[in-house]
Amino acid sequence: MTAIVETTNLTRRYGSTLALNSLNLSIPQGAIYGFIGPNGAGKTTTMRILTTLLLPSEGEAYVAGHSVVRERAAVRRSVGFMPDFFGVYDSMKAHEYLDFFAASYAIPPERRPRLIDDLLALVDLSHKKDSDVMGLSRGMKQRLSLARTMLHDPALLILDEPASGLDPRARVELRELLKELRSMGKTIMISSHILTELAEMCTHIGIIERGTLLASGDVTTIMRSLQPHRIFEVHVLSADEEPLATTLATAAALARAQPHVLEVRELPEGDPPQLQIDFDGDDRAAGALLGALVAGGVVVSHFAGQVSDLEEIFLRVTEGSAYGGTN
Ligand SMILES: Nc1ncnc2c1ncn2[C@@H]1O[C@H](COP(=O)(O)OP(=O)(O)OP(=O)(O)O)[C@@H](O)[C@H]1O
Ligand SMILES: [Mg+2]
Repeated sequence: MTAIVETTNLTRRYGSTLALNSLNLSIPQGAIYGFIGPNGAGKTTTMRILTTLLLPSEGEAYVAGHSVVRERAAVRRSVGFMPDFFGVYDSMKAHEYLDFFAASYAIPPERRPRLIDDLLALVDLSHKKDSDVMGLSRGMKQRLSLARTMLHDPALLILDEPASGLDPRARVELRELLKELRSMGKTIMISSHILTELAEMCTHIGIIERGTLLASGDVTTIMRSLQPHRIFEVHVLSADEEPLATTLATAAALARAQPHVLEVRELPEGDPPQLQIDFDGDDRAAGALLGALVAGGVVVSHFAGQVSDLEEIFLRVTEGSAYGGTN
């Protein structure tokens, strides 16, 4: 796949704040690329640079092969941007709103009514054509805003937090709409700080924190590369009159002697008391680990690998941030 977005050492400072730190990002044509990171990570900054609303301090970015520094007009023709706020418009109807922006893209007046009708139909707002935009619900405003980004038929849509504030149903509708746009050949970059919000709708994800790209690639590869180990939770029954802590210590010692065991935590005060074993082996090796515990005389009542979902991976890679770290 060819890349529709490519950044090389993209850097942006605001005064002494380093908002983007040498970002190397690549988005394949036709992808739905989820750009995920906590507040202040640099998502909006990146998107504003890719849409020529902001210049990089250093480095370069190319959209559809055009430089965001030297070929701004060409970049703008290739990209539609939906910002994270809707703006305020005095008594303007939905179709007038689209007509206003169509005019700013120099779309000839005679082409506009048909185009506007088509776009309103695409985002399922035909019935709101004559409604005041400020009276639309949040979800409807989002969809109208999405219609606006498509007026000039750009190859790339950049959507800044489109799912925030939407109810579950509106979120499903958004997901369906994005799929439809993808089938129309669009590439979509979409940001969020909530990973699960994007997990099912994206083909690729990039995780950014404090201006640094922590991981980027197709969803499966990211899962694999960020999930080198699983955590097994092990419950044991105490042997005879032995305190449970002693049994746990025996089990921990047996586990530590096994291959692929990275770390063993004894949690006698846990609920229930348990061992947590960080493990980087496959299922066969996990079976051997369980076998070793049993062969060592430990009565194992529960042995289960925690399934890491994307949310958990995100917490792990952004450890140290406001999301899960100590600082
Ligand atoms: N206009 C500005 N002036 C000064 N600093 C800014 C400006 N815009 C952004 N920043 C800083 O740059 C960093 C990245 O901000 P950015 O808005 O790109 O983050 P974000 O990932 O979009 O966050 P959020 O999830 O809150 O929208 C932050 O530290 C922010 O405070
Ligand atoms: Mg933002």
